[in-house]
Amino acid sequence: MRRSLIVGVCVALLMVFVAGCLSWYMARRETHEPSLLAFAEQCAVCHGNALQGGELGPPLIGVELRNGDSTPALIRSIGRGYPERGMPSFGQTLPPELVKGLALYVSEQRQGFGRTSQSWESLIPDGPQQARDHAFRVEVVAELGSRPYSIAPLPDGRIVVSEIVRGLSVVDTQGNQGPLISGTPRVWDPILSTENSYLMMGVVLDVAVHPGFDENGWIYLSHTHRCQLDCGFVIPKSMVRVVRGRIREGRWVDQEIIWSVDPDLYTVVPDTVSAGRLAFDHEGHVYVSIGGKASYDWVQWLDKPTGKIHRVRDDGGLPTDNPFEPKEETSTAHTVWSYGHRTPQGLATHPVTGEIWGTEMGPRGGDEVNLIVRGGNYGWPMFTHGLDYNGEPVTIGQDLGLELKLEDTIEPVVDFTPAPAISSFEFYRGRAFPAWENDLIVGSLRARTLYRLRIEGGQLVDEEKLLTGLARIRDVEIGADGFVYLLLEHGELGTIVRLVPSDAKG
Ligand code: HEC
Repeated sequence: MRRSLIVGVCVALLMVFVAGCLSWYMARRETHEPSLLAFAEQCAVCHGNALQGGELGPPLIGVELRNGDSTPALIRSIGRGYPERGMPSFGQTLPPELVKGLALYVSEQRQGFGRTSQSWESLIPDGPQQARDHAFRVEVVAELGSRPYSIAPLPDGRIVVSEIVRGLSVVDTQGNQGPLISGTPRVWDPILSTENSYLMMGVVLDVAVHPGFDENGWIYLSHTHRCQLDCGFVIPKSMVRVVRGRIREGRWVDQEIIWSVDPDLYTVVPDTVSAGRLAFDHEGHVYVSIGGKASYDWVQWLDKPTGKIHRVRDDGGLPTDNPFEPKEETSTAHTVWSYGHRTPQGLATHPVTGEIWGTEMGPRGGDEVNLIVRGGNYGWPMFTHGLDYNGEPVTIGQDLGLELKLEDTIEPVVDFTPAPAISSFEFYRGRAFPAWENDLIVGSLRARTLYRLRIEGGQLVDEEKLLTGLARIRDVEIGADGFVYLLLEHGELGTIVRLVPSDAKG
């Protein structure tokens, strides 16, 4: 006991030290960011330090740009210039990735995306909001007790909530959050609980209700299973695991493990990138997305669990038609459905076709919406429309010696560059907002924006910002009432809000 306490304290100190080094490094990368420096050196004389404009050049923020402000349009403006009107051409003097970096920089500033700034405020608008096809108001449903990750509306109007450290609870139809459900997987080790150590290992992730919940009562939960001495590790390691259980009289009962991997495949990489989103298709399978919670070479390595979307039967059984065979003893290749994913934060099922769709966060730029297909390779870390956070092109794949051709990978259906930090999404279905039927309602973290996307024939055909400046939107769900439920996170707390048609009684 004494020994494990000493080990625990040492590990905690080590983690605090590592976290300190990481934040120092990120801050350093930020101030040495090449496109920021280049803007100050090459552009600010005419356009002003804050892009506000000056005597020699027009403002680049707060106004429409005459030549367009998509990333390709900005690359064109900067590369070609308008020498006859006083804007030099930079295509010859600056390397192409720096021109792209500058275009992203201008675009990020225009959209108010602070690159690392995390504003925790929620600005919930009063009064009706007018979207193109529907007016709605934003109603607060419940305030939550700690930082949440996921919501799952039940058919009777209650909502199951997962909080990353505290576990599961149920919000009743009056908006009261009930006591914690006891008996959910233990993911939190009090010996190691320094203030932010849940960022490290052992958290509750997604909660999802089985499509046949009314008959079977199953609730699915993903979490990172943390293991230390029990698994023979000195430093704790963790990996995503999926369980299902039922909630009866405030307790989590009948638990079964649905998907898990050998402890040899557990890693020390923090759980913040583990994703763990769940979705069910129309044929009795459950899917779980696993982010890059390991070194990047695992993402293209089928025997390793990370950077994948896995598929099993909803009782945990192995489907007969999964695409890959294991090659190594502790492999998870037999449950891999698709791979080459970065941080697949969203996963949802198309209500009509039953297709599985995913969203994932790119590096700087390159957030994606993907149609997930059997055996598909989504290209990370070789191909992305984004740049690395330091403004350099992403060369991780090349550096790792990966050989992968673009034509063997699947291109995103929608690419967001610069990246709003797309989080989770859901397909709209229901009677409250009929004009949005089957559209994707997509949340974002950094951009604090709620998007509506319409995809037809594999193409983005319509895009609308339903709400801007709201809050970090962690999860999006549609209730049985057809209202859109959003899970907002701010600081160590969370709020559930919902979009209600403004002529309807909430
Ligand atoms: C010598 C002054 C000068 C410098 C240096 C300069 N610009 Fe410009 N820039 C201008 C002027 C003047 C215009 C407007 C040209 C026109 O009327 O079409 C312009 C236009 C632009 C536009 C297009 C605006 C629109 O409305 O479509 C972009 C984008 C832009 N500049 C970005 C940059 C960036 C990025 C840099 C640094 C790499 C830079 N500029 C450096 C003077 C400058």
